[in-house]
Amino acid sequence: MEPVGMARTLAGDRRIVEFLDLLRKNADYASGQSLAKKAGISRSAVWKHIRRLRRLGYRIESLHGKGYKLEGDTEYPVPWELARVLKTSHMGKTVIYRESAQSTQNLAIALAEKQGAHGTAVIAEQQTGGRGRLKRKWLSPKGGIWISVILRPSIPTATSTLLPFVAAVAVCDAVREATGLDATLKWPNDVMVKGKKVAGILLDLSAEAEAVNYAVIGIGINANVESKKLHLDREGRPAITSLSDELGHPVNRLQLTGLMLERLEQYLVLLEEKGPATIVALWRKRSDMLGRQASVAQQGKVVSGTAKDIGDDGSLIIATAAGDVNVVSGDVTVSY
Ligand code: BTN
Repeated sequence: MEPVGMARTLAGDRRIVEFLDLLRKNADYASGQSLAKKAGISRSAVWKHIRRLRRLGYRIESLHGKGYKLEGDTEYPVPWELARVLKTSHMGKTVIYRESAQSTQNLAIALAEKQGAHGTAVIAEQQTGGRGRLKRKWLSPKGGIWISVILRPSIPTATSTLLPFVAAVAVCDAVREATGLDATLKWPNDVMVKGKKVAGILLDLSAEAEAVNYAVIGIGINANVESKKLHLDREGRPAITSLSDELGHPVNRLQLTGLMLERLEQYLVLLEEKGPATIVALWRKRSDMLGRQASVAQQGKVVSGTAKDIGDDGSLIIATAAGDVNVVSGDVTVSY
């Protein structure tokens, strides 16, 4: 398991934010020497900050003999920019941000085990060992939104199967709002655009018989990635796409991440206060698969019939010739 190092991350953030503020205060070019003096750091530290900020998506011009000038802000979901846009009480109030991580899911679980707070988000620009559902790999190159959120929800353990549905509805709405694309939901938690998967949800749970200790919701959104780079072993799995491939231009990942965290908070409160049926109703409205022919592999057998409904536990009800079958996991193939 990777070390989390939260204190180190936050201290590092403070230094870069102070330096960024300094750049913002200068409408014109500022020399490396004057920036070093004002920030109380060495010139090589100035150069390191500039390099890091450029890597994080800021446009910083440099002119020989004149110095540096901030020309454009980032659209990367870095913690200090998220703090400026987020209108939430808990979600994303603490953000651990990594340029690279093995898996944000594993980092978030390690943090949750150490009492990481409700709403803490772990974000990575890329993952080297991203995990998908059903023990699959999740390819996570730069340009995507790879995020895991610690939840400590006030729900009975039995309701926890609805947590990925809460996240799927949140992602679907955020994608629609940020891009205008007609995102839809496919059971169990795939977010689709034009029949291709654009985002997926993963749940890791620690619970007692009565109550949930913590849940970690992992969300992977193929935002600004070339979808042809994501084809690994797609046999029997839905075709994939990315938001940038569908739009023909990149999406603002900072705005999309912010919207998604806001919707996640809103729908989690709904689940806590109103219960599963409310979330299932929201899910149904965003899905176009009910009423269609569907088949799913379960315990080596293929169940085929009409996708009839979603149960209040999140299971898929398939009407077959032999009666209704409740499916709790697997990949469903739908005929459109
Ligand atoms: C799926 O199989 O559809 C779920 C994919 C979930 C991927 C996300 S990316 C962020 C988080 N970290 C991981 O290792 N996995 C999840």
